[in-house]
Formats: sequence, C-alpha cells, structure tokens
Amino acid sequence: MFIRRRPAWAIPESQATPEALFHRRSALKTGGLAAIGAALVASCGQNDSNAATAPAPIPGGDPSAALYPFKRNAAYTISQPITDEKASTTFNNYYEFGTDKGDPVKNAQKFPIRPWVVSFDGMVEKPFQADIDTLIKAMPLEERLYRHRCVERWSMAVPWSGFPMKALVDYAKPTSGAKFVTMTTFLDRTNAVGQHQPFWPWPYTEGLTMAEATNELAFMVTGMYGHPLPKQNGAPLRLATPWKYGFKSTKGIVKFSFTDKQPKTFWEALAADEYGFWANVNPAVPHPRWSQAQEEVIGTGNTIPTTIFNGYGAQVASLYPDLKNPIYFR
Ligand code: MTE
Repeated sequence: MFIRRRPAWAIPESQATPEALFHRRSALKTGGLAAIGAALVASCGQNDSNAATAPAPIPGGDPSAALYPFKRNAAYTISQPITDEKASTTFNNYYEFGTDKGDPVKNAQKFPIRPWVVSFDGMVEKPFQADIDTLIKAMPLEERLYRHRCVERWSMAVPWSGFPMKALVDYAKPTSGAKFVTMTTFLDRTNAVGQHQPFWPWPYTEGLTMAEATNELAFMVTGMYGHPLPKQNGAPLRLATPWKYGFKSTKGIVKFSFTDKQPKTFWEALAADEYGFWANVNPAVPHPRWSQAQEEVIGTGNTIPTTIFNGYGAQVASLYPDLKNPIYFR
C-alpha cells in the first residue's frame, strides 16, 4: 500500500507518495489520465507473458481442480463489466512477494501450496487442523461476482469461487464467548521474498467481528474466473469482504483464531491512523493522505465515484451502530 520500501515512519511525510499518485505520474508521462488503467495492465501483461511466471505444478496435481467451475449464485451479481482476468491476476498487492504490482505474479510461482493445512484455534470447542482439500469438499461451493475496492483508490469486478465464511465459522465451532476471528497468513521466509523485510510485522494478520464474519457477504475464496486461485491472488485460501477496503481480504490463510479481544492487524501495527481495524469503504471519509471519493477501474481507464460500503450497504450497514463515527471507515 506504500510505494516506498521502508515503513511509513522511516521517511518524512513530504516524501511519502500514495501509490495511485505514483502511477498517475507515470501514466501522465505516457498519455494522460485516461491511459492509466491501460498502462498499468499493459505493463503487468508483460510480466504475465514471461516464462518465469508459469506456476510450478502441484506434485500429483491440484486435488480440488476438478470441482471448478462452481455454480454461480445469482444473488451476488454486479452491474459493471467483469475485470479482464489478465489484469486482476497480474496487478496485485501481496507484500509477501514484493511491493510492486507486478511482483507477486513473478515471485509467487515457486511458493508451494500443497500440502496446505489450515488451523482453527482459540475460543473453539476443540482446536483442530484441516487439510485444504478436505475443507473445500466439506463446504457449500459457489461463485459470486463481487466488486473489489482497494484503499489505494483502484477497483475491480471479480468472479470469486469459494464458500460463505459463515460455513467455515460453523465448521470451526467457536464457543459463545468468541467476539472476533483473526486470520493469519503463512510464514515462509524461504519462498516469500517480502518476508525478509524486517520492518514489517510478519505474518500478515487481519480480523473481523463475529457478526462480520458470519454476514452473508463474507466469502472465503479458493478460485477465480472458474478455476483455482492463482498464487498471486492468495492461493489456496483467501478472504473477500467486498464492503471493506481490500487490505482486509487476507491471502494465503493458514489459521483462524477465535478470540474475545479485538486483534491488532498487520496494517494497524504499521500505521494505525491510516489503516484501521474496520476499514469500511466510505467516499466521505478521506484517507489521511488522499481522498476516497473516486476510484480507478483497473483495465478500463475509467474513474468512477466510490459508494459507501462499496455499494453493499443494504447487507452490512446494520453491523455498525453509529454510521457517523469515522472510526468505522479507516
Ligand atoms: N494478504 C496478504 N497476506 N498480504 C498482502 O500484502 N494485500 C491486501 C490483500 N490481502 C495483502 C493481502 C491488499 S492491500 C489488497 S488491495 C488485496 O489483497 C489485493 O488482492 P488482489 O491482488 O487479488 O487484487
């Protein structure tokens, strides 16, 4: 989320450049604002055609591959065109594999995603672990079209394959005292170059309240565009919470911990005043360093107005008792 490679506090604020502005400057040099999306996609596309980005095959194959495509759930649709697959799989944020948008597609491919064990612990009836393919087969699988809005002011429209997070919570059997669920990403300094970066509080963690995690929109993602998730998009398991900024959508999840205390998240530990726990999309509450009123739709060159809760207010506004409180929107 920062274009700088050092943490926010390591350089004066005047030198800090929001990523969207950085890209705007590059795009302006090459043909004006309308060219931004195209320029981004074009430069990412070059990475995609590089042989080094071909994913290492899973030994014995992906045991869940034959389950795709999942049946689309018509209740979760959108009124805008789906983002080109090449754009959404080559323009990524996954700091474990680098800080530039084209880094994850290049650097994640050797990362092993089988075997992959998911742990459930904390305030659960009994802590346990589940192999990812056993977990997938136990879940109600479906495809949903969701909007995806990053705090950096860009957005996409993605067909995610997966299952409702509520089904995962039921599977975990949390006890009645659990109020939050923390999601933790893998730690693998051998394969994840970004985790050599000592300034950052690895592993990446995020959290939701139990009410958020069991909201109908919270969706565990195992695939996109009708096939298993590419590594750069968070394979084999990530979250999609479309009413929140994209940094809540944890990738490469290995653990769900249930707790009665609000967890401190990766981005909160780095810059709590910029990236909070709640992070609900709201065009009226600016990020401390930029406006959130608009967003650039990746792959189109268009900039459109941002909407509160990213357009999902009907499903989630009731989760937040005081909509005037800015704490819910950063
Ligand atoms: N999860 C992990 N583990 N590491 C990350 O750096 N980046 C987040 C989120 N999940 C991130 C992560 C951010 S800032 C965004 S916007 C989305 O992933 C990007 O998802 P995408 O690359 O599939 O569009």
